[in-house]
Amino acid sequence: MSQENKLKGLVDLRVQAKQGGGEKRVASQHAKGKLTARERVELLLDEGSFEEFDMFVTHGSHDFGLEKESYLGDGVITGYGTVDGRLVYLYSQDFTVFGGSLSEAFARKICKVMDQAMKVGAPVIGLNDSGGARIQEGVKSLAGYAEIFQRNIMASGVIPQISAIFGPCAGGAVYSPALTDFIMMSRENSYMFVTGPKVVKTVTNEVVTDAELGGAMVHASKSGVTHFVAESEQEGIMLIRKLLSFLPSNNLEEPPLVACVDPVDRLEDALNEIIPDNPNKPYDVKDVIHSIVDNNEFMEVHRHFAANLVVGFARFNGVAVGIVANQPKYLAGVLDINASRKGARFVRFCDCFNIPIVTLVDVPGFLPGTAQEYGGIIIHGAKFLFAYGEATVPKVTVTLRKSYGGAHDVMSCKQLRGDINYAWPSAEIAVMGASGATEVLYGRQLKGIENPEERAALVKEKENEYTEKFANPYVAARHGFIDDVIEPRNTRFRVIRALQALATKKDTNPPKKHSNIPL
Ligand code: HXC
Repeated sequence: MSQENKLKGLVDLRVQAKQGGGEKRVASQHAKGKLTARERVELLLDEGSFEEFDMFVTHGSHDFGLEKESYLGDGVITGYGTVDGRLVYLYSQDFTVFGGSLSEAFARKICKVMDQAMKVGAPVIGLNDSGGARIQEGVKSLAGYAEIFQRNIMASGVIPQISAIFGPCAGGAVYSPALTDFIMMSRENSYMFVTGPKVVKTVTNEVVTDAELGGAMVHASKSGVTHFVAESEQEGIMLIRKLLSFLPSNNLEEPPLVACVDPVDRLEDALNEIIPDNPNKPYDVKDVIHSIVDNNEFMEVHRHFAANLVVGFARFNGVAVGIVANQPKYLAGVLDINASRKGARFVRFCDCFNIPIVTLVDVPGFLPGTAQEYGGIIIHGAKFLFAYGEATVPKVTVTLRKSYGGAHDVMSCKQLRGDINYAWPSAEIAVMGASGATEVLYGRQLKGIENPEERAALVKEKENEYTEKFANPYVAARHGFIDDVIEPRNTRFRVIRALQALATKKDTNPPKKHSNIPL
């Protein structure tokens, strides 16, 4: 064969590989409002940066007629490229080829990019759209999943792993995304469940749709499985690009520094007024976050889950940070099971990847009740506490208002190795609120007073006395538990200075195989 024909042969094979499962199936994918696997890769990566691996791989299956049907690439597109000029590895499951189902060869392709990403220290992004294990391949497919799971586990805390779900993700297949750092689901067309509606009906007699059982909003608001919901695949892919901008490529690097044009000493007068005079009145902590970070830009994570705690990424003077903040606007900012899970996972992620943590505190305590106790708030609260205490990244804490009881300790207090702890003059740092404290301390005395007016007067007097003594930042400041009481409008500047001072922080934990965080 002439060289010319050989070259033509290569071009033809490439064209064939790029057709996926063929025109009809691509049209059906588009008709569902979905992009193809290749279109997703093009959107995700910088233009012209994609280098594809294993385009000519085919399956080696001889059962159920598969020997007569094969597609170049075998249903998954893999390789590397750049996002904003930074190297990433990726795989994109192609639903038009055997429903994106996973064969032995398919799994080998994914493992190859994961292995290389680990060697060079670059993130892995998985775009999922698959009918699960390739049924015709049986146990080989299960082994393929386990090979991927093992690599997800080894890569955890070494390179960032991000999963997008753009179609079905069911059965054991859900566990690879679940082992990664972030999951993003498109609002339409994506679902995740361990067992589908048919099995659910047979076993529990419940009748549910795919979306009700495992749609994006279910996992965003109820289970907390997904961190992000995107209105469209395009938006989801842009979200992934943005998320990557906050993350280092691996655990040995710092997050990328971005040039900052927002003045570091920008005063926000509104913050001096943001705390209502009535301590039981809410305000929106996101207003505080937006006003102190660079360009008012905050990328919220887990927005629809446990809204009583806000977590996400922002920058101070170009330095990426993780922000954790109690949200007085929702359940008074109380800590409960879901908020504790959410906070613990976020703090641990930041700590894995050298991202400083800025904590804004306004917490009245833990949510009381049988539902919380039976659900194990003790263990989940401990998880959050553990995550903060274990974290060695710079930790800057600002107490805005309430910081009561066990929740005070959890929220990055000094003794959990909080590095720089500030408080606003409105801070109330105490074991509990004035009315609870008065009830406990003077309950017997109050019971003995028959005249209700007299009783109310004593309650008021004792509450005032308690408030005067404890509901302020100065008792904690006198003990050195708070490093300084700061003017709210100057918070941005003080946080930036704190982060600058802590930029070279070195802290370690004792050598051990691994800790035993209360899971
Ligand atoms: C082989 C599959 C497949 C699979 C889909 N296809 N799933 N081929 N193995 N798992 C093929 C179909 O035969 C069809 O081929 C094409 O993909 C598109 O599928 P449709 O059914 O036409 O599409 P749709 O109506 O959109 O339904 C999508 C679906 C459905 C909901 C995913 O295909 C489905 O239920 N598939 C089976 C899901 C499943 O039970 N998987 C195993 C789960 S257990 P043609 O040639 O017609 O285009 C599992 C264990 C993992 O995954 C364990 C890990 C530890």
